[in-house]
Amino acid sequence: MTIRVPLIEQRDASYDILIEAGLVRQLGAILKKYCPAAAYAVISDSHVGKLYGAEIVKQLSGTGCRAELLTFPAGESSKTRETWASLSDQMLAAQLGRDSAVIALGGGVVNDVAGFVAATYLRGVALVQVPTSLLAMIDSSIGGKTGVDVPAGKNLLGAFHQPRVVIADPDLLGSLASVQLAAGLAEAVKHGVIADGDYFAFLEAEYAALFAKHAPALERLVRRSVEIKAAVVAQDERERGRRAILNFGHTVGHAIEATSKYEVLHGEAVAIGMVYESRLAESIGIAAAGTAQRIARVLELLHLPTERPDASQVDELIVAMRNDKKVRGGEIRLALPRSIGDAYGSDGDGWTVAVNEDAIRQVLVNT
Ligand SMILES: NC(=O)c1ccc[n+]([C@@H]2O[C@H](COP(=O)([O-])OP(=O)(O)OC[C@H]3O[C@@H](n4cnc5c(N)ncnc54)[C@H](O)[C@@H]3O)[C@@H](O)[C@H]2O)c1
Ligand SMILES: [Zn+2]
Repeated sequence: MTIRVPLIEQRDASYDILIEAGLVRQLGAILKKYCPAAAYAVISDSHVGKLYGAEIVKQLSGTGCRAELLTFPAGESSKTRETWASLSDQMLAAQLGRDSAVIALGGGVVNDVAGFVAATYLRGVALVQVPTSLLAMIDSSIGGKTGVDVPAGKNLLGAFHQPRVVIADPDLLGSLASVQLAAGLAEAVKHGVIADGDYFAFLEAEYAALFAKHAPALERLVRRSVEIKAAVVAQDERERGRRAILNFGHTVGHAIEATSKYEVLHGEAVAIGMVYESRLAESIGIAAAGTAQRIARVLELLHLPTERPDASQVDELIVAMRNDKKVRGGEIRLALPRSIGDAYGSDGDGWTVAVNEDAIRQVLVNT
């Protein structure tokens, strides 16, 4: 199945997302069609590189392509300028030219760092995303955002760099740890809440099959989530309007992530964030009653946390939210749901709601 991301602002950067079990075994043929290049730098992390890297390089070499595998230690702590510099230097040392391409093989960390390498190497080379975590498949590999973390904060240096093609092969999820699977499922729940009530109901009904990685359920999930994210991104490539709805759960979520010193996984923090933000939406009269409870229930079924960690103090969370780059003019702006399947907002009035800190504090303290 192919989903096109028709970028309106930059039509020639439009690209396809291919979704099918077993696609990675046809990588050579796919690259020939979508991204022919003189050489490929296959960038991966230490876990994924070990599992799939050598096989992919062997496959590409077998079809007569030059391919180099470059890996870095797995984990968010590697999403740095230093990793970006080291990968770029290794590509220069290997004398990869402007006619080469980067293949980002891994989770969101690899997507972001390798994408940023591709965006800047010799002022930009072609990029192919091969996401291997659920979060990367349905979220980070789509939309063209790349970058690294710096001491001042997460994702603060980066570039928009659209891939030539995204290759989503659900078979790769077979080796993914359950906690990482659950973290990706949190973003799927978000997609249901902001865009599609029937999809949310599917997650409620099929939670057990999803958590057990049953192929048909997982493929349907990847397909629908990709459709939703691609549709939102296509209309707002550079995040000036509607794309803000993808931040549902992320204002509180980012604060939880940051105050936990990144011990809480991104998807887990977003799960908790969605519960508090939907309670907030109910308390200020935007969301229908019962919305938060239904969201919390499906997250629990998917083995995700729904309450903020005790250690995270409310004041610290508020400070972290103030520091988040989405805060404008002293107000905390949030993307909120009206009901399951319907995000608040419009092009005229904006897609986020300004909420005063006291209302947020109340929700964080009282529940
Ligand atoms: N660019 C964007 O639009 C965007 C959107 C959302 C998130 N992100 C970023 O994505 C990152 C989180 O992504 P993530 O959750 O995928 O983290 P990750 O890349 O660290 O992957 C999580 C863990 O799973 C392992 N892994 C990945 N695929 C595997 C597989 N198939 N089998 C076995 N192990 C596998 C990785 O090695 C890692 O240890 C964050 O840095 C976040 O900022 C970016
Ligand atoms: Zn997210």
